[in-house]
Amino acid sequence: MTSRKTDDFMAMKGAGYYSRATIGAKHVMDNATGLILDAIDRQPPADDGSVFTMTDMGCADGGTSIDMVGRVLGDIRDRCPSRPIQMVYTDLPRNDFSQLFQIVHGLTDTESYASHIDNLYVMASATSFHSRIVPPGSLNLGHSATASHYITEVPAQIEDHVHMVGASGEVRKAFEVKGAVDWENFLLNRTAELASGGLLALFNFGIDEKGRYLGHTGGVSMFDTFNEIWRGMADEGTITQTEYAATNFPQVYRTVDQFTRPINDPESTVYKAGLRLEHVETRVVPCPFAADFKSKGDAASFAKSYIPTLRSWSEPVFLRGLSTDRPADERAMIVDDFYGRYQDRVANSPEGHGMDYVHCYLICRKV
Ligand SMILES: C[S@@+](CC[C@H](N)C(=O)[O-])C[C@H]1O[C@@H](n2cnc3c(N)ncnc32)[C@H](O)[C@@H]1O
Repeated sequence: MTSRKTDDFMAMKGAGYYSRATIGAKHVMDNATGLILDAIDRQPPADDGSVFTMTDMGCADGGTSIDMVGRVLGDIRDRCPSRPIQMVYTDLPRNDFSQLFQIVHGLTDTESYASHIDNLYVMASATSFHSRIVPPGSLNLGHSATASHYITEVPAQIEDHVHMVGASGEVRKAFEVKGAVDWENFLLNRTAELASGGLLALFNFGIDEKGRYLGHTGGVSMFDTFNEIWRGMADEGTITQTEYAATNFPQVYRTVDQFTRPINDPESTVYKAGLRLEHVETRVVPCPFAADFKSKGDAASFAKSYIPTLRSWSEPVFLRGLSTDRPADERAMIVDDFYGRYQDRVANSPEGHGMDYVHCYLICRKV
């Protein structure tokens, strides 16, 4: 197997595909913008002329967060007319940053806030959120949505599933331990970056109190479907068993307790560094494609519009599982075939399919 490091290969599908196909992730942020505005209102920033810095960590092409960022920075501009605003978009080096800048600077069909807010400086960083991104004490609002489940690397091979939600025993434990280490490290880096009184608004994929997680809310389980189709392709010989076993999402879905324990425990390094939890809740945001199918009943068009939303974020993992001895176009054909099979399944038997979003929303402040 080649490098297991997530930074080496991870990127959402580029050229605008991600935010065009992933409207549900936009709903997640749009619906939760009030949590950020309320937190700002609880302790309004001073209008003291200093730079106000916000990050959007794991921003992808910036299209899904555009309205949330616009509302939040608009609020900061109204409250603090004297403060220059620095907006820092961050993702991994393979991210399509060119597309991000085109979206934020209004060169696409997406309406952007950037020209409506004066004294605004937009920039980007390709430093992983598992490291420090901005200088210590300089961050006023750190935001991240639907990204912190990406761990630095896969800690063990899951032989019989593609995701840790399908792993058990020692392998499941290895993922949970890795998830805990990376989460604590993430929080410590953010706490170091935050200015006193600064906020973290983290909308994380996780496992809620009822055991629900992305695409697993009572209907057909999305990760089990990924696994069944990929394993079927191994059993019939389209891919090898080694490729099947090597295909593991570098992700950990954490429970509410796993998210909050390092912040609430007075003995933890995170607590001692000064981070405090102000708000936590879980929410399920319904899959917009499944909702559309319920109202219109057209299975073929549901399948056609739904699969791109899965593909926009999962494709690099399936491509990565394939042997590099195969030419790139052969790997691409296999992955096309894989998503084609998923689409056929949905078109033939659409009931229960859908990718409901399950998030744990955290608002933290540095004291
Ligand atoms: C599912 S997308 C979410 C995009 C956007 N925040 C949203 O909510 O629609 C996850 C993003 O996190 C990025 N990502 C994964 N690991 C990362 C890391 N260590 N540092 C920064 N970004 C990372 C991925 O490249 C991807 O763009």
